[in-house]
Amino acid sequence: MPSSDQQSIHGQWSSRWTFIMAATGAAVGLGNIWKFPYLTGIHGGSAFVLIYILCVAALGIPMMMAEVMLGRRGRQTPVNTMRALAAENNASQGWQLIGWFGTFAGMLILSYYSVIGGWTLGYILHSVSGNFSGLNGNGASTLFGDFVGNPFVQVGWHTMFMIITMYIVARGVKSGLEKAVTYLMPALFVLLLVLVGYAMTTGYFMKGLDYLFTPDFSQLTGTSIHTAMGQAFFSLSLGMGTIMIYGSYVPKSTSIAGASIAIAVFDTMVALLAGMAIFPIVFANALEPGAGPSLLFETIPVAFGNMAGGTLFGTLFFVLLLIAAWTSSISLIEPAVTLMIEKFNMTRWQAAIWIGLATWLLGFGTAFSFNIWSEATVFEMTFFENLDYLTSNLMLPLGGIFIAVFAGWLMTKDNSQDELDMKSEVGYSIWRILIRFIAPIAVSIVLLHAIGVY
Ligand code: TRP
Repeated sequence: MPSSDQQSIHGQWSSRWTFIMAATGAAVGLGNIWKFPYLTGIHGGSAFVLIYILCVAALGIPMMMAEVMLGRRGRQTPVNTMRALAAENNASQGWQLIGWFGTFAGMLILSYYSVIGGWTLGYILHSVSGNFSGLNGNGASTLFGDFVGNPFVQVGWHTMFMIITMYIVARGVKSGLEKAVTYLMPALFVLLLVLVGYAMTTGYFMKGLDYLFTPDFSQLTGTSIHTAMGQAFFSLSLGMGTIMIYGSYVPKSTSIAGASIAIAVFDTMVALLAGMAIFPIVFANALEPGAGPSLLFETIPVAFGNMAGGTLFGTLFFVLLLIAAWTSSISLIEPAVTLMIEKFNMTRWQAAIWIGLATWLLGFGTAFSFNIWSEATVFEMTFFENLDYLTSNLMLPLGGIFIAVFAGWLMTKDNSQDELDMKSEVGYSIWRILIRFIAPIAVSIVLLHAIGVY
């Protein structure tokens, strides 16, 4: 019978603060700094931002609480956690599928995440070499175009990124991760503030703020609502078991609600700061806000190329971005690796190597999507775009619906109340309404619309 007084066989966080930092490390990554700004640009700015913030508050926070709660009660890899909780609450063993589904989604996401992680590696080298100095918008576009245009370069950096990810995973997540995130996440935050400071000097800062925050509902479409919701799941790392597995290492004394809110607020602040740094640069250099995945890499080098100490700051920025990506990538693959250990009795090293190899191979599809396969489209999307759509826009929200239904309807009220252990009755009731009704219904409505049911 599960009880959170037990510990996970994989260990436990040393404190509430390390859990918050580790989960923040998983949440803050390329999703905030690379993906959020470019999606905002594609979807026309403020309306997307507003829907995104709404999704984080009304769906993201209660979903995160649900995942941490399930993880802490089950204390195992998501598949086995769901099995144990299904037994505890007299639910069908079919609920284990949530775990399998999420574990698989994590591998799919990492396969492309690693290619973009490779871009940050490549850009560290560009920065150290002084290739940003004096760069204008055109120069930055050319630099990026040449970089992604070369399939060998793409596979090379992707390989490097996979190696460093799997190395940490093989050594065990908690030993390496705790120290890294405690100092480096705050450092990244400070550097983003420096970039926002630079954006203020471009003369286009107000235009950037206006673009991000003055609501313009003419830009709102079903697609942008769907994408904003998917991005909320992606950025908070929800819907696939990452947070469940990190929750399984959480000490019993930690307040789940407080920690979830702190993580969501921090994650959202990082995304908004990235937007506030990038859009003024876009407008000042007559770049295209809807440029897509290249946006970050075509704007930020211009800022560093034209500020004092830019080579140093630029290098530091991409190093910190790399670390943010790294802590996220580890969390994407941890469920698959612990599953192999629990199910097939593998050692951590064996599990990391097998899972890493499979994910690495799949990543070639994304590495080639920006060069030799850029014209090879299915549903008018490249391999990368299909993978991203499948995971962020379909699999994560679907996983989220099932997690919400399980936490709200299948888990008994006594159990969830005991595990969340909230001081305020009202707080618990709000959570329960959000997780039982609002989250599953809202997400279903958006998904059904997206697949063309109405
Ligand atoms: N949230 C991370 C980012 O914004 C990516 C990530 C890590 C993730 N773990 C996840 C996304 C689990 C979805 C599910 O970069």
